[in-house]
Amino acid sequence: MQTVFLNSKEIDQAVAFLKSGQVVAFPTETVYGLGADATNEEAVKKIFEAKGRPNDNPLIIHISNIDQLERYVESVPEVARTVINHFWPGPCTLILRKKGSIAPSVTGGLDTVGVRMPDHPVALELIEKAGVPLAAPSANSSGKPSPTTALHVTRDLNGKIQAIVDGGATGVGLESTVLDLTNPERPTILRPGGVTFEELEHVLGEVWTDDHLTDASIAPKSPGMKYKHYSPEKPVWVLPASLEQTIKVMDQLEKSGKKIGFLVSDEWFEQLSNDSRMGQTLGEKKTPQQAAARLFSSLRALDDEDISLILVEPYLKVGIGTAYMNRLEKAASRIL
Ligand code: TXA
Ligand code: MG
Repeated sequence: MQTVFLNSKEIDQAVAFLKSGQVVAFPTETVYGLGADATNEEAVKKIFEAKGRPNDNPLIIHISNIDQLERYVESVPEVARTVINHFWPGPCTLILRKKGSIAPSVTGGLDTVGVRMPDHPVALELIEKAGVPLAAPSANSSGKPSPTTALHVTRDLNGKIQAIVDGGATGVGLESTVLDLTNPERPTILRPGGVTFEELEHVLGEVWTDDHLTDASIAPKSPGMKYKHYSPEKPVWVLPASLEQTIKVMDQLEKSGKKIGFLVSDEWFEQLSNDSRMGQTLGEKKTPQQAAARLFSSLRALDDEDISLILVEPYLKVGIGTAYMNRLEKAASRIL
């Protein structure tokens, strides 16, 4: 298949592809999504095929107006309305009981569906003109870091999908928060993301997190969270929290012949740089948003370099730092 490249003024062409049951990658505020008409089973199957995604891992449906929400979920509890009022459009996916004509593959046999309204003009226009919700996972090959530019999508999926709409680099850089509201008394974060625990707690009073996020021995409630994720080809190791220890670790690794790629804050960068290492910066330590926005694209960039492993600085698990560390720890084969 010849993948067609479109710019954000060529949305009508993308809409025509979607209406004819094809899959199209498009930008959102989090990462690029790989979209298909969520009511068309044949179209949705093409998403799983292109990504090589296990079919028990359900997809999020993306909507552009609240009427669509009412049409595809059984009821919208008060707690959902509160989240929607504060965070939609935005990076928060709500898990609710499904109804209506969503294609069966979207939800992988579950009686619930994940719904979000993305905060991106291209995504919203595309959904609105398609006239149906778009089922869309991140537009990477299964297991790879999620794409934050159209070029990343091309690298993974060129020739396997009908089209890519280029809307520039995404802003948040990590995927949406997945919030389970099937028990409205107990709003539970299944995947940390662009809307933080603290922000949700602020508006909801009390918020829970799925046990697997704090105890790796417990099976996650969100099917997708059990799979290995976000991994470049090269091994990723999480550095110690101390710069002194990191300096020692890197020296030792180099003595044993490793070629180091590293991804650290501005504060660490100078002291770790030398001629034989490849470094990238995550921005200032006090702006974890920047680290979140750069993580996936930097992992991809370092993966292309002539190095033997990628060493990444840990951030505190507060605010967006929680989502950053969740993705980093899933990408990593070792935590130092
Ligand atoms: O920011 C995002 O959420 C991006 C953009 C494209 O919107 N999408 C995304 O989709 O990250 P994906 O498929 O890569 O991740 C969806 C996550 C998976 O962990 C999946 O298991 C979970 O949401 N999920 C979807 N439907 C669910 C459901 N009914 N119950 C529990 N978890 C669900
Ligand atoms: Mg994904």
